[in-house]
Amino acid sequence: MPGVVLVGAQWGDEGKGKATDLLGSRVDYVVKFNGGNNAGHTVVIDDEKYALHLLPSGILSPGVVPVIANGVVVDIEVLFQELDALIERGVDVSRLLVSGSAHIIAPYHRTIDKVTERFLGKRRIGTTGRGIGPSYADKINRVGIRMWDLFDEKILRAKIEGSLDQKNHLLVKVYNRRAITVDETLDELLQYADRLRPMVTDTAVELDKAIQAGKTVLFEAGQATMLDIDHGTYPFVTSSSATAGGAVTGSGVGPTRIDSVIGVIKAYTTRVGEGPFPTELFDDKGEFLRKTGGEYGVTTGRARRTGWYDAVIARYATRINGLTDIVLTKLDVLTGMEKVPVCVAYDVDGVRYDEMPTDQTAFHHAKPIYEELDGWWEDISKARAFEDLPPNAQAYVKTLEEMSGTRISAIGVGPKRDEIIPVHDLIHPR
Ligand code: GDP
Ligand code: IMO
Ligand code: MG
Repeated sequence: MPGVVLVGAQWGDEGKGKATDLLGSRVDYVVKFNGGNNAGHTVVIDDEKYALHLLPSGILSPGVVPVIANGVVVDIEVLFQELDALIERGVDVSRLLVSGSAHIIAPYHRTIDKVTERFLGKRRIGTTGRGIGPSYADKINRVGIRMWDLFDEKILRAKIEGSLDQKNHLLVKVYNRRAITVDETLDELLQYADRLRPMVTDTAVELDKAIQAGKTVLFEAGQATMLDIDHGTYPFVTSSSATAGGAVTGSGVGPTRIDSVIGVIKAYTTRVGEGPFPTELFDDKGEFLRKTGGEYGVTTGRARRTGWYDAVIARYATRINGLTDIVLTKLDVLTGMEKVPVCVAYDVDGVRYDEMPTDQTAFHHAKPIYEELDGWWEDISKARAFEDLPPNAQAYVKTLEEMSGTRISAIGVGPKRDEIIPVHDLIHPR
């Protein structure tokens, strides 16, 4: 009865959507446990490309029950837009379950996200502008609105009043914006209540029953380890727990139910938004990775920052998440390089760091110490077994595996469903 957690090991966009899809036919439930529609997961099935934001990628697998759990923040308008777009493409979305305890992203959260970023100026985070941070802030401040609240108009009105009280002072007096009325917010939210009601349930109970019945449950993280609110490059992070621990608090399933933790990691590194990035490239090699890897954001269309693989991050992700397996993606993008540098440690003002410096200033000053591995020229997109890879690509994978301390259980060699090299079974008992 495996409980499998799947997380991003770097700064997001590692190919979690594809990895989830890969497991799709073998899992019964796919649970999104953190974040919201800041995520952008791409799944390519045959020649059809799907971009998922709020919905778990598992929604594309027939028979899978997709679950939006309590740790997620839900923009209801986006939820229905995404559902309708999938229905139009013939996807059966009828099994979707949404936790009544999930918080909602209200229109004023989006407004505050945008004005705060503008106000921050050069100290901005580079958020996706989807209202994620302000919604989580309300949750922690205990003035958030949860799914359950939509079904009781009196409660909903009182909660909106409570939430808008301070915000309107801020919007009007600090940000020079118009005040948001309780009625406009109430009307906006109430229009969704009837359509939502059948989907909303206590998903923790559902998942417990499923696990007791021997079903396989996959917990799919949005964002990634280095964007985690506690373990990422704070303050340049998202506002949720994107690491493996988040699967537990974000779903209400206890840690003893988890059998394995898969970390998805790219064969190089990318980042969207602001914040430190030691192996970042500003030259033609960086441009090559961006072009060849198609590194443009699925959610905002922003060009992703690109850089070499960072083994310090891989080791850190292994430790923080307790990884049991790695899915290495986009190895094909590195084809055609004479040498492939890999960051093995950092130099911080003359001191060598083999482990991630947790102090922010040290990480900002970190200069990568590289080891250069030999590249390969052969097209690897048709490789379906490890032995099909040219010797230098095999050596690259083996070196990464040794450096991270976690076995590499699958290798991505292209965006399509079948463009993968299976190495070890990804679903296994502890
Ligand atoms: P996610 O947010 O982690 O789900 O990842 P994204 O979908 O934002 O970004 C990953 C991108 O890489 C998508 O365009 C995928 O189609 C693509 N992709 C995934 N795995 C591979 C791979 O092994 N090779 C190549 N070339 N592309 C891949
Ligand atoms: P997936 O799930 C990459 C980044 C934003 C910004 C920071 C905070 O596709 O890997 P937020 O809107 O969350 O408050 O923004 O986090 N970010 C992501 N970067 N992939 C994502 O999701 C991201 N979700 C948020 O760019 O730097
Ligand atoms: Mg993405």
